Amino acid sequence: MGWSTWYGFGCEYTAESIKAVADAIVASGMRDAGYTYVNIDDCWQLEERDSDGKIQVDPVFPDGIQGLANHVHARGLKLGLYTDRGTQTCAGRAGSEDHEAQDAATFAEWEIDYLKSDNCNSDAGRIEEQYRLMREELDTATSKTGRPIVYSICAWRFYDWAPSVGQLWRTGEDISADWAESNCGGVFDCMTTNAKYAAYAGPNGWNDPDNLQVGNGMSVDEQRTQFNLWAIMSAPLIAGNDLSAMSEETRQILTNKDVIEIDQDAFGLQGVPVRTEPDTHVEIWAKPLNGPGKRAVLLFNPDAGSHDITVRFADLGLGKSAVQLVDLWTKQDLGRFHDKYTVKNVASHASVMLRATGVEPEIPSGTAYLSDLTWIYAANASGPVERDRTAGKRGEADGGPIVLGDRAFEKGLGVAAPSAVLFRLGKACSRLTAQVGASGVIPEGASIVFRVLADDQLMYESARIFDGGNTETIDVDLTGKYRLKLVALVSDPAQNTVEAVWADARVQCH
Ligand code: GLA
Repeated sequence: MGWSTWYGFGCEYTAESIKAVADAIVASGMRDAGYTYVNIDDCWQLEERDSDGKIQVDPVFPDGIQGLANHVHARGLKLGLYTDRGTQTCAGRAGSEDHEAQDAATFAEWEIDYLKSDNCNSDAGRIEEQYRLMREELDTATSKTGRPIVYSICAWRFYDWAPSVGQLWRTGEDISADWAESNCGGVFDCMTTNAKYAAYAGPNGWNDPDNLQVGNGMSVDEQRTQFNLWAIMSAPLIAGNDLSAMSEETRQILTNKDVIEIDQDAFGLQGVPVRTEPDTHVEIWAKPLNGPGKRAVLLFNPDAGSHDITVRFADLGLGKSAVQLVDLWTKQDLGRFHDKYTVKNVASHASVMLRATGVEPEIPSGTAYLSDLTWIYAANASGPVERDRTAGKRGEADGGPIVLGDRAFEKGLGVAAPSAVLFRLGKACSRLTAQVGASGVIPEGASIVFRVLADDQLMYESARIFDGGNTETIDVDLTGKYRLKLVALVSDPAQNTVEAVWADARVQCH
């Protein structure tokens, strides 16, 4: 959580205006709400390096970056800086290409805490290599100073290597304070793209749909909806407005502690849409929270007219029992409900964020097929996860029979990778067995990989599967584990989703 110069200031800032924002973060209560990083984006550096190749700070920083770092650190905040992997930044200032080690050492010496690396003026063929190189040089530099630097990859789309390189990675192009599609990406676009990569998010690695646009001109409903969506997606909350001149309304949106708590939940799952109504387009989102029976629920109306929105508790992966609901904007305890809850007349682009407390589904017993159990979370790149058929990638039950190679399977889960499905085991199970493979075509040059995690620990990883005919057999020990996560990921330069199956997937339990 933090703030960035980019959307509020562009290149028009000075050490003084950034200090004023740092002071406002403290005075407005934003620091106490969790906003920590003060990020200087493009334009702090000069176009030319000095005769030793060292990066030069623009004279609008008379005390250098270190001077600003001191100001920010003295207030219990952290400082972020910006560079570019290419020869120049997007605004034409010096980039880090061929100066990675020198810049990493300089940044560490200035005591910065965060580095965003952009993608302008660069060689497309060197993208992974250059982002990795800067990560290594930051590690080298910070191992000497002992002050870690968060690494933010700004490559304008998702790359499957990014989660192993950065702590956060942009999933799309630049956002704007615009609901509808604009020149790059309106709020709705950035959200839709970001949602596709939910399976990759988790503690210490986050999909980044770009900065908040709260306070930058959208309607109040739209600002709250962006805040809700970013929070349920566990996205970085980086404010993009001028915090030294914000309205009380903006301040209140940015400091909604209940919604921030949803974003920061220790479980670290990226919430997902669990239902989209075909006629009205309204969406119901859910995110399991750290705590038994706890879910964040978002009822969201992206449509042009008002609609009633109903959440069915069966869609939340909860067991059958009453569910208690709290509205996180009105702070009202709404009471306990059975089966479903309806909010009347949700305005266009508005949303309602609820905290739901019910009971977890029963833990499995005996030999149980996963497709007969209730999952508590399912991220799927396209359409729903299917039981005993392939994913189909659109609506419910649109897939076909499960076939791997020339073998047909009656049981199994059909997913559209990247995908992650989470089950509760409650320490009752000892073994998972399954047969995995792609049920659809794997595009030329792409591959798919399957992972089994139990309590966030990697228990199994398949080889890269390049061919629809190839399968692997899984046999994983689950003794003593609470949660099982089945992950299927795709490596593909064209960002296709690929249909995959966990055929015959079953657990053996007491
Ligand atoms: C690119 C990035 C933005 C911002 C600008 C700065 O467009 O995607 O986030 O950093 O450059 O020039």
